[in-house]
Amino acid sequence: MFLKNIDKCLNIDDFRAAACCRAHRMVFDYIDGGADDEKTMAQNSAAFDDYELQFKVLTGVDNPDTSTTLLGEKIDVPFILSPAAGNRLFHHHGERGPVKAAEKVGTIYSLATLSSLSIEDVAAMTSGPKWFQLYVWKDRVLVKEMLDRAKAAGYKALILTVDLPIAGNRERDPRNGMTVPPKIGLKQIWHGLQAPLWVYDYLTKPEIKYANLSGAGSAVTLNEFVAEQLDASFNWDDAEWLLGEWNGPAIIKGVVRADDAVRAEKTGFNAISISNHGGRQLDTSPAPISCLEPIRDAVSDKTELIVDGGIRRGTDVLKALALGANAVSFARPYLYGLAAGGEKGAIAAVEMIADAIRRDMILMGAKSIKDIDRSFIK
Ligand SMILES: Cc1cc2nc3c(=O)[nH]c(=O)nc-3n(C[C@H](O)[C@H](O)[C@H](O)COP(=O)(O)O)c2cc1C
Repeated sequence: MFLKNIDKCLNIDDFRAAACCRAHRMVFDYIDGGADDEKTMAQNSAAFDDYELQFKVLTGVDNPDTSTTLLGEKIDVPFILSPAAGNRLFHHHGERGPVKAAEKVGTIYSLATLSSLSIEDVAAMTSGPKWFQLYVWKDRVLVKEMLDRAKAAGYKALILTVDLPIAGNRERDPRNGMTVPPKIGLKQIWHGLQAPLWVYDYLTKPEIKYANLSGAGSAVTLNEFVAEQLDASFNWDDAEWLLGEWNGPAIIKGVVRADDAVRAEKTGFNAISISNHGGRQLDTSPAPISCLEPIRDAVSDKTELIVDGGIRRGTDVLKALALGANAVSFARPYLYGLAAGGEKGAIAAVEMIADAIRRDMILMGAKSIKDIDRSFIK
């Protein structure tokens, strides 16, 4: 077990290997793992191989414009950062890492409900655009309170995650005894010997907890937490109620069916994140990239589409754009960077994808994001 230098990472897989070296086993597996047999997680990336990029030649493109807009927000790259819970578990810099990475490449940061730094603390870290992701709590007063806090702190859009009525069966977590905050027993001490830097942070930095929830102190598994707190009975009527309460731009995250996409549009969502939660929920659900075209055909042009899941390369991003996405998003790439090297690692991983998009647009002969259409796909 040797620490890998993040400056030597050449691709996201290298960041993954570096994260595996630095982070505690339970933490690495929490990022890296999926549900059941992890078939969907693997397929999310593999499905990009079903498409090939037919490049154009002699287009004279030497400085492509990678900027675009999403819900009226101008962003410098055609991706945003997907929300991810508990970033201080992975590195003591916590959400600060991806916040600064988003700022560096000029894009939107999405803060998770279950973040380890608070809505307000994260807002104070950046003047860049921010969205807020919500899980639906049983306690509607808490829901309203969170919406008010997010609005007051300047989060422009709401992401409602709908693919987690209960937690998926992620077998790596109970095997490792994963809880939040981490509970340390013999197994965790044994694994901790192989992750001394993570252990040092854990012992010397403030306790890791869900910062937006008061009184969430004792160590619980994700399954226990979700079953106790989240509202699995939440339905389309409730979603309409929620949109009324928020009264601003809203994205529904975790849709894979065209009929659900149409319903989401009718309910009033402005954008749809085509996502299966990175393969962490219902295993054998389809890869988001393969759901994109049917959904694009089913909804109107004004409904924006974000593809989320398995994106590791610039070419993955460009394939999604060519198939009709307005933008993409990803979580593990920046989480591996964060776990491997804190803020610096998160920035390096996100910049790597931004650079790859620029390079691949030159190789494809695409001058701007608007230029990327179905003709590039074989
Ligand atoms: C460690 C981890 C924590 C996550 N936490 C959340 C969360 O709190 N809310 C949410 O909507 N999605 C969450 N997700 C899912 C991501 O937003 C995203 O949908 C998924 O990771 C995309 O796949 P990718 O990691 O292959 O890019 C999480 C994903 C990971 C890996």
